[in-house]
Amino acid sequence: MKEELTQALSRMLGKPITFVNQPDGAGLIIRTTSANASLGSEGFQLQSNATNTAITLSAQTDIGLLYGGFHLLRLMQTRQPLIQLNIHSTPKLALRLLNHWDNLNRYVERGYAGISIFNWHTLPGYIDQRYIDYARANASIGINGTVLTNVNANAWILTGDYLQKVKALADVFRPYGIKVYLTARFSAPIEMGGLSTADPLQPQVQQWWQQKVKEIYTLIPDFGGFLVKANSEGQPGPQDYKRTHADGANMLADAVAPYNGIIMWRAFVYSHETPEDRFKQAYNEFKPLDGQFRKNVMVQVKNGPIDFQPREPFSPLFGAMPQTPLMMEFQLTQEYLGQGTHLVYEAPMFKETLDADTHINGKGSTVTKSVSGIAGVANIGNDINWCSHPFAQANWYALGKLAWNPAQSSETIAEEWIRQTWSNKTTVVNTCKQIMLQSREAMVNYMTPLGLHHIMGNGHHYGPLPWGNTLPRADWNPVYYHRADSAGIGFNRTATGSNALAQYHPAAAAAWADSNTCSSEYLLWFHHVSWQHRMPTGRSLWQELCFRYNQGVAQVRTMQQQWQQLQPYIDKERYTQVQLMLGIQQREAVWWRDACLLYFQQFSQQPIPAQYEKPAHTLEYYQNLKFPYAPGNG
Ligand code: GCU
Repeated sequence: MKEELTQALSRMLGKPITFVNQPDGAGLIIRTTSANASLGSEGFQLQSNATNTAITLSAQTDIGLLYGGFHLLRLMQTRQPLIQLNIHSTPKLALRLLNHWDNLNRYVERGYAGISIFNWHTLPGYIDQRYIDYARANASIGINGTVLTNVNANAWILTGDYLQKVKALADVFRPYGIKVYLTARFSAPIEMGGLSTADPLQPQVQQWWQQKVKEIYTLIPDFGGFLVKANSEGQPGPQDYKRTHADGANMLADAVAPYNGIIMWRAFVYSHETPEDRFKQAYNEFKPLDGQFRKNVMVQVKNGPIDFQPREPFSPLFGAMPQTPLMMEFQLTQEYLGQGTHLVYEAPMFKETLDADTHINGKGSTVTKSVSGIAGVANIGNDINWCSHPFAQANWYALGKLAWNPAQSSETIAEEWIRQTWSNKTTVVNTCKQIMLQSREAMVNYMTPLGLHHIMGNGHHYGPLPWGNTLPRADWNPVYYHRADSAGIGFNRTATGSNALAQYHPAAAAAWADSNTCSSEYLLWFHHVSWQHRMPTGRSLWQELCFRYNQGVAQVRTMQQQWQQLQPYIDKERYTQVQLMLGIQQREAVWWRDACLLYFQQFSQQPIPAQYEKPAHTLEYYQNLKFPYAPGNG
């Protein structure tokens, strides 16, 4: 910790700093104290008074000191006064993780920032400085765990050679309070162990995992545990043997329990056989299993019921499994959010879910209260600036900050990040904040306004494809989700439709149940409404759709103008990078608007109101665009 402070402070202040032992000396007093138990194993305290030039940083552990040290640096870098400090900070959530969807060949699934930073081939012999910087960056925002491998990865990471590599990384990350976790392919006992089955109730399968786990903990005594994607999108799992998700999770949980390991078992499942609304499937599968999981199993639930869309209602599983600790899974990498080139600050989206009221234990039962940890699917790659788009790092930053304290506002987090990343100048801070805070709503408007969802390109999910209807599974096709026809548009999930609404507490469902009172943001998630449906703005549904798509484009153009005003204050390289990417975002927003409006117009049979720009091309033109090499998709 002293090393971090010395390095940063001598750069910030231009002179070496002194560490002192006595409260009356001038400098920084650092102490580990067992006196203040309320700080726990990760908390810290920063204190100073009005006259004293000394600042006292205390914590119960080295990691607490490290977090406190980073906090102090942040105060300085964001130009906060250092007198009369009385900060007492502890994390609100115990598990604050990144999930890398990185493969051993360094290909990052849904990655838009280069290849994986983990160079497995040169590990364990070569320790890239990047591993250390990665740990420092994560520790500076409170992240305390990382899953190194893709949820879809094969079992190779569990071989002896690779475990040596994992150990090397774990050794680098340990001083920064970061535990490593791995994904566990459920069929590993067959693929690696030569067994004929991976049935979780078979003793030889259980023994195979126990042995493997022992091997891991011998190398990495503080190994965190496993993240598992089972019986989902073709991955093997306990249901292959007619066992339940609980049987599978518990078998692994028993193997890691003697070492205090945990299992994060993903709820992202939708069956091959059931024709049931995909929205409902995770809940149907997992809700009945509440109470059947071991204590060290966490069920990891994506923020919404479908799949990281620009806007989703919160997953009905939050609050619905009171006996099972839940992890929240957010996606930092922008698979459905403009991928590598769109500026989208995700904190408002994370907050929308965290602050949503499940009503499970009465009013004020926020989603936050139902989770014990937060994981973010990482947007990191080996690009020189880590996340490719200069603003994408804000999403990594926000994830750490919100996992530490979900009550922080998106605005505060944005401001902190801007001051540390761009400048403390008021114009820069205010303008960047405006750009960031409107970016997510802009993206929803130009991609999927009014509750539209999953109308992106097949496979790579790049660009609009509302006409998509060629994939073998109905629920992979955009037409399944928007259901546009001559009568109207939207997915009826009320009692007269799939009744997904019934999965929510009645008080939460009430807000969405009636198409006349359901907020416009979620309308087409829950209702199939006519093109003439009267919106709260007084416009018809069709007019509102045209308005929103155009508003999205206008918002991006505003973002471009705002960015231009910052040219005098930003270095040329980063200024140009953002400017060019905003150019792409603007063109793609126009593409989204025109392709979607032309397509939906076939059903609404109404003109695009005269005040709006006319599409530059025909619908056929957009339908013929192909992107076989769009990134992130294998
Ligand atoms: C999405 C994504 C996949 C990913 C899956 C998951 O469907 O497109 O690449 O594997 O989510 O979360 O497991």
